[in-house]
Amino acid sequence: MIIEIVADKEEKMISQETIQQITNRIDIIEIVGEFVKLKKRGANYLGNCPFHNEKTPSFTVSPSKEIFKCFGCGKSGNAIGFLMEHEKYSYVEALKFLAARYNIELEETEVSPEIKQQQQVAESLFIINSFAQKHFTHNLFETEEGRSAALTYLKHRGFREDIIRKFELGYNLEERGDLHRTIISNQFNIEYAEKAGLIVQRNQSYYDNYRGRIIFPVHNQTGKIIGFGARLIKSNDRAPKYINTPENEIYSKSKILYGTYFARQAINKNDECLLVEGYTDVVSLHQAGIENVVASGGTSLTIDQLRLIRKLTNNLTIIYDGDNAGVKAALRGLDMALEEGLNVKLVLIPGNEDPDSYVNKVGATAFEDFVGSNKKDFIIFQLEVMLQEAGNETVKRSAVVNHIAETLSKINKAEDFTKQQDYIRQCSGILKIDEAGLTNLVNKFKREKVAKEEKKQPFVDFEKQDWPQDQNLQDDSSFLLLNDVIHERNLLRVLLEYGMLRWDNEITIAEHIFGEIQEFNFDDSEVDRLFTVYKDSYYRGEQPSSKTLLYYEDDKIRNLVIGLNVQQHELSPNWDVKMEGLNINNRDTSRHDVIMSLNYFKLRKIKKMFEENQRDIEKATSFEQQMDLIKVHKVLKEEEQKITGQLGTVIIK
Ligand code: CTP
Ligand code: MN
Repeated sequence: MIIEIVADKEEKMISQETIQQITNRIDIIEIVGEFVKLKKRGANYLGNCPFHNEKTPSFTVSPSKEIFKCFGCGKSGNAIGFLMEHEKYSYVEALKFLAARYNIELEETEVSPEIKQQQQVAESLFIINSFAQKHFTHNLFETEEGRSAALTYLKHRGFREDIIRKFELGYNLEERGDLHRTIISNQFNIEYAEKAGLIVQRNQSYYDNYRGRIIFPVHNQTGKIIGFGARLIKSNDRAPKYINTPENEIYSKSKILYGTYFARQAINKNDECLLVEGYTDVVSLHQAGIENVVASGGTSLTIDQLRLIRKLTNNLTIIYDGDNAGVKAALRGLDMALEEGLNVKLVLIPGNEDPDSYVNKVGATAFEDFVGSNKKDFIIFQLEVMLQEAGNETVKRSAVVNHIAETLSKINKAEDFTKQQDYIRQCSGILKIDEAGLTNLVNKFKREKVAKEEKKQPFVDFEKQDWPQDQNLQDDSSFLLLNDVIHERNLLRVLLEYGMLRWDNEITIAEHIFGEIQEFNFDDSEVDRLFTVYKDSYYRGEQPSSKTLLYYEDDKIRNLVIGLNVQQHELSPNWDVKMEGLNINNRDTSRHDVIMSLNYFKLRKIKKMFEENQRDIEKATSFEQQMDLIKVHKVLKEEEQKITGQLGTVIIK
């Protein structure tokens, strides 16, 4: 939500110490257990996955690894990731939720220069907007032009003065440079006035952007003005009816719902949010005492807007004109609303009215009665509209069945399953088809969706790569031929797991690994970053491990650490079996794990260097050059033999 992005921008970042305090306290079983019924199974906990529909539990939580993983749908993550996914929190919101829960005071920290710069721009925009609003209000009430043209018009439409003042409505004079002049004489930066959309530059001169228009200020959740909607008084073919603030640091149309600042409390109290199209609808309904109302600006709802609503209530009632365009726009938001777990109802205003004109016509009580008794379920409404359009054509009707099944598959929250079943029953009734058949179809769409999402997650892909199952280490060339990234990741896994243990009396395993791989690079950029992050943290004396990095601020790093943890979980039994064969001296397995990972990592790198060297030899232009390269070849060969000797492995090239 823009309003929140602004809030996020205004607030300082949460300090590393606070994050540390929070993550120290996290008990993943307790957090996940709040939303999923968990049963202890060995070292882990098991439950029904909240992210897909299942009858036998495959959702596993590991308290020691501090991660969850569903073996049915593939979702996995840490406690914060769980909250982000399940509660649709941002990273910062999840941290705040946990801080509140554990009574940890949020300590704020210095922000980066870029964020500081953005905050300064945002602050300047707020200030200039607030100044402009006061000027607009002054124009409306205190100037001759404002009173005769704009105030008269508003009063004629039935707006009372108290409501005009509450919404801080105003007026921009007809003359081209009134606001511009005022802004200059008050020493505001003209650049900010342009960015705020108050002034436009044309042919090297400045014009007021909202000349001769009624001004509706748009407030954020704390009541600060982030932008304006400016309405022409007389309709005019050449100019748009409304001009809105351009996108800038504090105004992003897709994240705003007009009226939230004035509606929050009433939405909370009524546990329902009414959604209308326009500025005037919001203002008129407020005037009629219906205050739980926000406006979308006539476009289809965005996911950010739906989330904004979902934070306040689960019940959304869309009140639109009966005309086609509005209804179609409303329908476009439907599937996303379902995914957000919202109960969506639709009310169509009869005739050529919109909520503003209708409430003015019939009065507050009749309006509320009408809304109360004409709420249509959104899904059923959509089905009826589609069926009507399809008529009796079989092909079209079956397309409708598919469409509705796909829509229903988006109800994917565990707590909404009964709701989904209700819908399946109702819809199969309306469609006159078999209920079990529709259930199957819905489930098919669900599976497809999960499969699609799985593909998007890089480390899940990685898991799918086959690790050799039943070959001996002795002739295990296939293992070496697995792609580089596997070996790179595997080394990082070992580093995270054993890095802080001793290698010998002098150095830790981490230092041993740092030394051993000095001459090599990581090809995978994320692995490379994680390695750098680890190393920096290590030399700062922070004792890094997968535990500490599981909560690292950068989500790419976080996800990689989670992926490595999961990998270890699932793949190491296999690896352990291999190692057991080698474990003749009964040394502890961490050492072997380190040696094996390092050797395979190095062998893979050396193999690549061989290939490169070979190409260089072929391209060599002089005898000397060729001899040098052949020397390199020998060194590589020796290095390879040393490693394979250590592994007791025959390398097949
Ligand atoms: N809108 C817009 N730009 C336009 C037209 C409309 O941004 N050129 C948005 C405005 O938020 C407007 C809403 O769409 O409030 C609905 O448009 P419309 O129904 O045309 O306007 P009303 O709000 O009903 O305004 P009025 O009652 O004054 O006609
Ligand atoms: Mn209207």
